Amino acid sequence: MKIAVLGAAGGIGQPLSLLLKMHLPAGSELALYDPAPMTRGVAVDLSHIPTAVRVKGYTGRDPDAALEGADIVLIPAGIARKPGMERSDLFKFNAGIVMDLVQHCARCCPAALIALITNPVNSMVPVAAEVLKLAGVYDARRLFGLTTLDVVRSESFCASDERPEALPVQGVIPVVGGHSGNTIIPLFSHLGGELGDDAAIAERIRRVQQAGTDVVDAKAGAGSATLAMAYAALRFCLSLLRARQGELGIIECAYVEGGHAAAPFFSQRVRLGVDGVAEVLSYAPIHPVEQAAIDAMLPGLNEEIRQGIDFVRQLM
Ligand code: NAD
Ligand code: LMR
Repeated sequence: MKIAVLGAAGGIGQPLSLLLKMHLPAGSELALYDPAPMTRGVAVDLSHIPTAVRVKGYTGRDPDAALEGADIVLIPAGIARKPGMERSDLFKFNAGIVMDLVQHCARCCPAALIALITNPVNSMVPVAAEVLKLAGVYDARRLFGLTTLDVVRSESFCASDERPEALPVQGVIPVVGGHSGNTIIPLFSHLGGELGDDAAIAERIRRVQQAGTDVVDAKAGAGSATLAMAYAALRFCLSLLRARQGELGIIECAYVEGGHAAAPFFSQRVRLGVDGVAEVLSYAPIHPVEQAAIDAMLPGLNEEIRQGIDFVRQLM
């Protein structure tokens, strides 16, 4: 299997590449692309770790050599938030980058699974879908917006200093909707047991929605989440790989097209298969507070989707 990371020299790209070098199955190939000149150095550095994963760095303006023959493409390319910014403020910088990179994917590895990390994810995945459609290679099963960080956070926030053992089984809490502000809806009701009153449920949802901004504020201008994001992307990538190699019953949350009546793109639980999404899974039943949160954010989510689609249609 060949895994390409586009944006590999960045805050997410570097720790993600390290984790991939450590955890990809023996015999895998890791292709690291970033226009930053240090990318070859990142690859040389990682190549000194004694695992059976071949790693090569690519830089310059053209990612084609990194993408040639790739089975999975992970894209953490583009700029990150600073305090006071919303994810949507990144649209004007990142939409062009995503559009260009996905055009290269369409040419060099049209059957690859593509996982987009770049924000705003809610709009970037529609951008990528439009680009792939125009190139005639779109298959909704193979395009993902990465929302695993929201799942990871929901799991972590179940524990506390007093109850560090309270971490739930991995994958039990779905996070649905999208990946920005109030579109992030963790479904803690899937844990079962006592949820608390409506205000307590709303507060747990709010904490996950606010988590990215908490990191941005704490980093005070030096970027957004990188390390937990790298862990989340590794987790998602390994699930894609296991499913691609035929393992059954692999379930993840991801922002994908199809499967939801109220929005064309929606983050939901998906069962993964050899070709990407094998089945979108229901998240019912849920608590009325969770349902109200979904209903309230749908107009905003649909607006972000529309912005991504229009961006490509106006240019092409
Ligand atoms: P960063 O600025 O540290 O790194 C971005 C990298 O992208 C840089 O190395 C830059 O050289 C590279 N890049 C720029 N243009 C490129 C191009 N055309 N092709 C390939 N690479 C290019 O930023 P970061 O902290 O790594 O974050 C990257 C993106 O991921 C941001 O948009 C951020 O908002 C997003 N993000 C998403 C999630 C999520 O849950 N989906 C979580 C955290 C961050
Ligand atoms: C996150 O959730 O941490 C990322 O989307 C980065 C951000 O800008 O918050």
